[in-house]
This record gives sequence, structure tokens and C-alpha cells, in this order.
Amino acid sequence: MIYEFRSKNGNTNPISLIDPSELMRPEPLFASKPVGQFRDYSVDENDPIKERVRKTYTDMHTNQTFDFVKAKIEKYTKFNHLKYTMREALEKLNDLVDESDPDVNIPNIVHAFQTAERIRKDYPDDDWFHLTGLIHDAGKVLAFFDEPQWCVVGDTFVVGCEWSDNIVYRETSFKNNIDGKNPKYNTKYGIYEPNCGLDNLILSWGHDEYLYRMLLHNKTKLPPQALAMIRYHSFYPWHSSGDYQHLLAPEDEETKKWVLKFNTYDLYTKSADVPDIEKLWPYYESLIEKYIPGVLEW
Ligand SMILES: [Fe+2]
Ligand SMILES: [Fe+2]
Repeated sequence: MIYEFRSKNGNTNPISLIDPSELMRPEPLFASKPVGQFRDYSVDENDPIKERVRKTYTDMHTNQTFDFVKAKIEKYTKFNHLKYTMREALEKLNDLVDESDPDVNIPNIVHAFQTAERIRKDYPDDDWFHLTGLIHDAGKVLAFFDEPQWCVVGDTFVVGCEWSDNIVYRETSFKNNIDGKNPKYNTKYGIYEPNCGLDNLILSWGHDEYLYRMLLHNKTKLPPQALAMIRYHSFYPWHSSGDYQHLLAPEDEETKKWVLKFNTYDLYTKSADVPDIEKLWPYYESLIEKYIPGVLEW
């Protein structure tokens, strides 16, 4: 996906922002093509999309070291980059347009409303869940701070220990990551205690972790399930492949159920079914007011 950011004064500042985890995500409920055709990470040097996805992950897996992630956490948890309400941030993301697909032009905000409205249909009484659907990708504002795509989007993995088996391109993509040669980080447990629990793991940096921390910083009233959905929605090696069992605590199973429930809805339908965003805003503004009101520090 190539997104382009247009500033308010009309200047065009193209940002390439592929989100491979969304590009190839399985869509069991709403699929416009067979599930087997999503998340296809096979290598085909003649296929430009596959090559672009592979390059994104190779860059990610080469550069996202333990120290790199620590530095990003340090940088972005000062929350001194932007002052926006949640609505302003979501509307800003509206300027990020997927330009990789000749048939579909889905701005991020349409994905946000589609996700939220599908959740609302199935869980009409859980307003916190509706809002979670709406805001789950708001951390992609990182792209406005000149972060390359490989530290904004894509599947996440644990840093500080051996890379798990089911990370995409695992066999080849980490070969130049210096942590692989560091005995502090390249063992089964690395820096972690056995069964230390999900929340003690340090994941590769991206929009999930950033938004999670930003919501905590701004004292959100969203419940813990919502925060888990946001924090772990791209952590495919864990929630979909069952990796890292030796680092998990029993209560993490419950968290996984919530994250998987959310993931069913976190999908691009590429359908013509575009929600009437202007009509829906008053309802979602009332949820923002309830759970994450006011001008926020990003
Ligand atoms: Fe996401
Ligand atoms: Fe998403």
C-alpha cells in the first residue's frame, strides 16, 4: 500500500506506508476472496507486491533490535509530538490514502469506521468495543513523524530473546539483525523469566504499542480488554500461531480470546459498503467523550 499525506495547505508529501499485516490478512467473515489467498508470504521475485512486502519485513527484521525498540519507546513516550483530540487524529489519518490498489481507494478512516460498525452490529451494547474498533489504528500517526513503514505497520514479534518460528520470513529476514549474534538476546528466554507473562514482553515497535501507551498516558477509561486488543492486534506469532508459550502466564489465554475476537473485525473488506461517516460521527464523538476526551498528548 502506498499512502500519500496531503497537508492542509495542499502540499503533497508522499509517504510509502505498506501495511503487510492488513494487506494479506485473512477475512473469514467478510472475505472477497478465498481465505487461502490472504497472508501469502511466498517469495516470488517477479511479483512486485510480494517483493515489496518481503522488503518491508526484511527491513523490519534487520533493524528492529532490542536497543532500537528501547530507543523508540524512550522517544515516543514523552508524548510531546502532537496535541490533537482523538477525532482530529483520526481525521488526519484520513489523509493517508491507500494508493497501491487501482480498484480501491480506502482512506484509513473508512477502515476505522468499517471495523467499528461491524463490531457494533454484533455487540450493540459494548460501546467501548465500538470505540476500540474506531481508534485501533490511530497509532499510525507515527507515519507523520517520518517513521519508515517498517516501524509503524506490520506483524510484531518479541525482541530480547530468540525469534519465534512463525514470524513471517523468519528463515531469511533476520540474518543481518545484530541481536542474533548477541548471547544476551539470542537464547530461548533471552532477557525474560520463564512464564513472565505477555505484558512483560517487549514487542517490535509500531502503531499498536504506541497507541496503547498513548492511551494510558492520556488516562483513558477504556477497559483492559480494549487496551489488549489495541496493543496486541498485530502480534500474529502469538495470537494466531501460538508461539512464545514458554514466556506466557495462564491469564494470557483470556487476553488472547479478546484479541482474536477483535481481529475478526480488523479487516479491509474492499467492498463498496462505505459507512456514512458524517452521520456516524455524533455517536462516536459521544464515545470519545466518555472514554478518551479532550485534547490529547501524542
Ligand atoms: Fe493495525
Ligand atoms: Fe486495522
